[in-house]
Amino acid sequence: MMRTCLSRSMSLFGWKSSAQGQKAANTKPVRVAITGANGNIGYATVFRIARGDLLGPNQPVILHLIDLPDFKSGLKGISMELNDCAFPLLRGVVSADNLADGLKDVDYALLIGAKPRGAGMERNDLLKDNGKIFVETGKALNDHASRDVKVIVVGNPANTNCLIAQNHAPDLPRQNFTAMTRLDHNRALYQLSKKFSVGLEDIQQFAIWGNHSPTMYPDTTHTKIKGQEIYSKIDKEWLKSEFIPRVQQRGTAVLNARKSSSAASAGNAAIDHIHDWVLGSQGDWTSMGVYSEGDYGVAKGLIFSFPLITENGNWSVVKNLKLAPESMEALKKTEAELLAEREVISHLLK
Ligand code: LMR
Repeated sequence: MMRTCLSRSMSLFGWKSSAQGQKAANTKPVRVAITGANGNIGYATVFRIARGDLLGPNQPVILHLIDLPDFKSGLKGISMELNDCAFPLLRGVVSADNLADGLKDVDYALLIGAKPRGAGMERNDLLKDNGKIFVETGKALNDHASRDVKVIVVGNPANTNCLIAQNHAPDLPRQNFTAMTRLDHNRALYQLSKKFSVGLEDIQQFAIWGNHSPTMYPDTTHTKIKGQEIYSKIDKEWLKSEFIPRVQQRGTAVLNARKSSSAASAGNAAIDHIHDWVLGSQGDWTSMGVYSEGDYGVAKGLIFSFPLITENGNWSVVKNLKLAPESMEALKKTEAELLAEREVISHLLK
């Protein structure tokens, strides 16, 4: 394990006199772990976390960069660059080549490290390779992380990897294990804002249901634009043959264009996910894959993306929505895929 500790003099960065600097100076730093920190998504994410994008401008952070021993030198370079950015909120960098050291006492864990999808693969083709990683990660979180650690799984297939990690962390709150569908949510918001020529802030009550895969259901049936419902007016042909498939297949489209899977937008979505989980969705809906308690008839225990409202570090599923027949059909399809994924990895569950 490599360890680099930064001891920072506040005056060095010129924020001794600013109110914000004082507030941050009096706030205990939190520990944020990133697995796969040397990969593309990791590199696109860690600098933004150090800058305060994850938890706001008053929350100092200690970054735990975790990657395989082969990437020790890469992590050293990232740690050097982090120092060279002179981020006022960054109070330290821990570099680790093993999960036990890397996850020790962490308050947040961004589980990015996994084999990425290549051309011609679907995300669940990765189940066998990546499933095992999440057994080990779940165990290490259970044994070493803060008892209130908040976890986001980014590595694909994210929902089922999250289920595996949660299953191997029985001492931690199960609601703290979440999978990322915020990337799909953000992709959809952009498509809607373009279609309706409105700002992103004008769109409310959109959500992704189900799996982070082509079966996900981007649901506009309750969406409002500038406070008005849109579903009765929306062009259903556009919805069916353009909007929904475009959101469902956007990861593949990026992969085909870049010859490498999405990185900056994935890192951005992971930051948005934790940010809104901790600091709240301000009454609007967000989307995260979370433990199903059986809402809307979804099989209990699956990690399923629901419309959620987040507040004070907690999420709650938006209840009592009337689901259109097309929504019910779509939910059943994505649920069936998650049940099938769970079956494939059942030997990895305790
Ligand atoms: C994405 O949606 O872009 C990511 O999940 C990467 C992938 O494999 O599609």
